[in-house]
Amino acid sequence: MTTQITSFTDYKNIFDQSIQSPEKFWAKEAQTFEWHSIWDTVLDYDFDTPSISWFVNGKLNITVNCLDRHLPEHSNRVAYTWIPNNPDEISRSYTYQELYDLVCKCANALKSYNITKGDRVCIYMPMIPEAVIAMLACARIGAVHTVVFAGFSSEALVNRIIDAEAKLVITTDGAFRGPGEIPLKEMVDTALSSKTTTVEHVIVYKRTNSEVTMTPKRDIFWDSFMDNQPAECPPEIMDSEDPLFILYTSGSTGKPKGIVHTCGGYMVYTEYSFRNVFHYEPHDTYWCTADIGWITGHSYIVYGPLLAGAQSILFEGVPTYPDPGRFWNICQDYKVTQFYTSPTAIRKLESFGDEYVKSYDLTSLKTLGSVGEPINKDAWEWYFTIVGGGNCQIVDTWWQTETGGILISSLSQVTPSKAGYAAYPLPGIMPIILDENGAEITTPNTEGFLCIAHPWPSMLRTIHNDHQRFQRTYFSRFKGTYFTGDSAKLSPDGLLKIIGRVDDVINVSGHRLGTAEIEEALNSHPDISESAVIGYPHSIKGEGIYAFVKCIEDTHSEENLISELTNHIALVIGKIARPDKIQIVPDLPKTRSGKIMRRILRKLAMGEKDSLGDTSTLVNPEIIESLSRGIIPA
Ligand code: WT7
Repeated sequence: MTTQITSFTDYKNIFDQSIQSPEKFWAKEAQTFEWHSIWDTVLDYDFDTPSISWFVNGKLNITVNCLDRHLPEHSNRVAYTWIPNNPDEISRSYTYQELYDLVCKCANALKSYNITKGDRVCIYMPMIPEAVIAMLACARIGAVHTVVFAGFSSEALVNRIIDAEAKLVITTDGAFRGPGEIPLKEMVDTALSSKTTTVEHVIVYKRTNSEVTMTPKRDIFWDSFMDNQPAECPPEIMDSEDPLFILYTSGSTGKPKGIVHTCGGYMVYTEYSFRNVFHYEPHDTYWCTADIGWITGHSYIVYGPLLAGAQSILFEGVPTYPDPGRFWNICQDYKVTQFYTSPTAIRKLESFGDEYVKSYDLTSLKTLGSVGEPINKDAWEWYFTIVGGGNCQIVDTWWQTETGGILISSLSQVTPSKAGYAAYPLPGIMPIILDENGAEITTPNTEGFLCIAHPWPSMLRTIHNDHQRFQRTYFSRFKGTYFTGDSAKLSPDGLLKIIGRVDDVINVSGHRLGTAEIEEALNSHPDISESAVIGYPHSIKGEGIYAFVKCIEDTHSEENLISELTNHIALVIGKIARPDKIQIVPDLPKTRSGKIMRRILRKLAMGEKDSLGDTSTLVNPEIIESLSRGIIPA
């Protein structure tokens, strides 16, 4: 029997049991799946090495649990209703049987292009069913998918392709996004011609029917790739700890980290958390608006819902096209019951006023989810009152690319919610808040470092090709525990509040960016000698990007340089990383050892010039005055 938590008391009991005997708890969850052969040990771990194995020696294929397991009983159940960007284009539904057939065909096609177990396949696609099919087809044959968000630039794409040593790329001719179009295939071409890669083939799905250049032998259109492939493909038998996918995310140094997730634990946790957080019931229609290029798309559009046999919406477009009522229009027309989005989207839609919401019947909604960044009280209230009509529970879900699934959240219809609080750890999750010295903080309302004291099944296992960085980033600051990089505090009644990052990672519209990554990109511009990037509070995006740049010499007018730098960032990383503010400075505040004092820049950017704190280690204090005069106001 799967654990379906039914009341707050039930939650407390199950939570206590899960803490007392985690292995027993997780074995019970894992038994609800189809395994080719069962594990011999539930958990084997050492946080020092670090090495983490769940369901040791268990054999499985996750797609058997996403697809085969629901057949033939639920062959006709709709897995996805796909809604195109343009509201005039017809939506399409895919039953579990249809999805199974397409995944098998695609898996066979991949095999025919020499993709075998362990090979990496890069997926660079818009939000279309073929993206999900491609991911599952990889998993079917044991290939490791690495999805790159289609908003990333050619340069960001090629760096990920190289790091992952991908053999094949799946893309589209172009992507529709709101009123615009993105030439994805052209970007792949630029990526592959800029550097030497291991890519042998590029598969191109025709989405926009725009003209593309096909490189003979290397490039194949999706239709001929899929043509004549049988709709049956035996699943590759995977070890529980074989990698399922790599997903890149930003860290405190310039180079993105390839987060590695494995088959068994990820399967168990994404299904368990999906079912319990969203209270998914048969015949519900669930919609997560994330992009498959992020972990939210992987865990809560693809794997979690399919494992649970859910019926989901897959949306290609953006919240404001053709108008800011689009989300609510879809919720009404498809009678969405669980809706999961980001605080940035909520704040943005709120800024257009209540009318767009009020023109639609949203009475089908039961649960409203939030993810990616702290949701401020005002946005929470609007979401609750205006979107939910006061009748829906809000689940503020805290997690990370690294955690694979939601670790801290209210459980819809089970545990209470409170504005500003991610609330409770899911059973099986053991958060602790530590002070500077690693001592546990139990005093309410005292901020500390958020750590997780015990492994959970869907945690990352390593950073691709850099196990040392894995150790350093998550297990060195505090011994014997996973460090999240976030700070948090407990309320007197035991609810967790997430405060924010304590490292050089900023969160822009729920997307994670490393300040070092943006600095490196700025410094690669020929006119820039040095730069410092910080995050500052932004009313819609949560955090905005503020860049202080120092030029090599005054060869440019400021205005030209600023727009040039903005374009430069879009080319090197992608539009999401374009700074909101760029201030050209004569120098940066530094310590004797040459370290940039970002703390001072943060204070200045927030207009707190009079509370800079200790500046005695600054070698160039005279710079403060001119920096402060140049601050770009909100
Ligand atoms: C970081 C992880 C989780 C999928 C999307 C982002 C922040 C995430 C919340 C929340 C406050 C949150 C944290 C975390 N974050 N959810 N509910 N409340 N902060 O995944 O890109 O790996 O970023 O996002 O700072 O560490 P990600």
